[in-house]
Formats: sequence, structure tokens, C-alpha cells
Amino acid sequence: MRQISAVNRAKFIAARQAAYYVRDNMLVGLGTGSTAEFLVRLLGRRIREERLHFRAVATSVRTAELGGDVGIDIIDLDHVAGLDLCIDGTDEFDGDYNLIKGAGGALLREKIVANASRRFIVIADDSKKVDRLGSMPLPIEVTCYGWQTTASMIEEMLRDIGQKSRGFQLRFLRQSPYLTDEGNFILDFSLVHINDADTLDTRLNEIPGVIDNGLFTGYASEVVVGHRDGKISVHDCHTGLVKEEMIDMRRMVQEFCAVIDP
Ligand code: A5P
Repeated sequence: MRQISAVNRAKFIAARQAAYYVRDNMLVGLGTGSTAEFLVRLLGRRIREERLHFRAVATSVRTAELGGDVGIDIIDLDHVAGLDLCIDGTDEFDGDYNLIKGAGGALLREKIVANASRRFIVIADDSKKVDRLGSMPLPIEVTCYGWQTTASMIEEMLRDIGQKSRGFQLRFLRQSPYLTDEGNFILDFSLVHINDADTLDTRLNEIPGVIDNGLFTGYASEVVVGHRDGKISVHDCHTGLVKEEMIDMRRMVQEFCAVIDP
């Protein structure tokens, strides 16, 4: 059997499950990141093999490019009144299904598209589950203008609300500061444990210069988790019910090779 890393296997089965949420004539938001990339490729296969027809809004330039390459009809968010569902990855989720997103740098468009969708389905491998948000730095998208002043204001606010911080880094790509698709900077704040995600989210977004941050509280409708042992669990975020099933690994590997690595 071909070797696929355990984490890719877990991401793939989560994406594969969610790909079947898409039905004919839906308007769908497509996330960004490696798990979302599996989803986009799987949807491309459904278009080719099942003649599935749907239109999609991409949450980043790179997802739009990949979607176009695999035959998805990518449209502009402003050309539709709302979306049936959005499917996206996450960097962390906690027991209340609050998320940290943005390690891939697309948090702003991701939040706009998720907010415009009636259902927001999160796809994740099992390493993304945390007891408390904050094991990874919190990405905060800020204007380039005055970013150091904005960073000082954020630090002052963190002290004010009693949120521990180990400092921040301006995100770089190679030798230059990373620019989002909207032309902004990202500050990655190491917060250790986030005490109160709702308060932090509100207070951050009140600071002039902060465009948005990677906390997605109360957004998720379902979280589809792929486990490294081949189990898949679907969490209904409203009822708390969890459905589990095991995936046939041999079939999954064949599909992976056909879709991702032909
Ligand atoms: C992109 O900005 C992020 O929010 C991604 O959705 C998130 O980082 C998950 O990425 P992976 O699927 O690559 O883990």
C-alpha cells in the first residue's frame, strides 16, 4: 500500500466527507490551506465524474486559481446574495467549537465568506483539537500604515484585559513582510492560553488599524474531524451530537492517489 503521511490521511478523509455536502446548484464558499486544497481537488473530481454543478466563492487567490484549474465555476462574492455553505480548514478548535484560523494568511476573506454562508463546515485533522485556544499564535491582520503603533495598542489592550502574551512577530515571506490578498500585514501574537475569546475578539477589532483577527467564535455549524487511525467524526456544533464512522483505508489510499497524486 502506498505510504501517505498520517496527517494527510486525516486531512483527506475530513475533506472527502465534506465534499459530499455539496449538492447540485449550490453556492459554496471554498476555504484556504492544505485541507481545503484536498476538498477543492475532490470537488473537481465530482464535477468530472458526476457532472456535479455548483458555483463557488474562493477565500483566497490561490484557492481561486486551484478551483479554476480543477473545473470549478469561481464567482465573485458580490455577485451573490449569500452562500448555502462554506467549507474551510482551521488551525485550532476547542470544545466549544471556537476556532483560530489564519496560519495560511487568508483569515479576512475566510471570515467574510463564512459570515455570508448559512452553514459553516470546518474540516480538520485530529491534531487541531485543543483544550484551550492559543497553542498557536493568534494572527491579527493590520494595516501596513502605522503597524508598530497598532501593535503597541494591541499590547496595551492585552494588559488591560489580563490576557497573557509572549509578544508578537510581524509575519514574513522570505525576505519581506507577508502581504495578505487585501494588501495588509499580519502580526502573530503568542498568547499561551486565550482566557476569553469573545472579549479578546471584540477588543481587538475595536483598535484602529486592526482589520480583523483569526478568532472565529460561534461561526462553526459542523466540525468534520479526520483521525489518523481512519476514524471520522462529525460534530454538530449546535446540538453537541457526534457521529463516528471508520473509513476503509485501502479505498481511501486509492482515492488519494487518483485525486491528489495521479
Ligand atoms: C488559512 O488562512 C487558514 O485559516 C487555514 O484554513 C488553516 O490554516 C488550516 O490550514 P491547513 O488545512 O493547511 O492545516
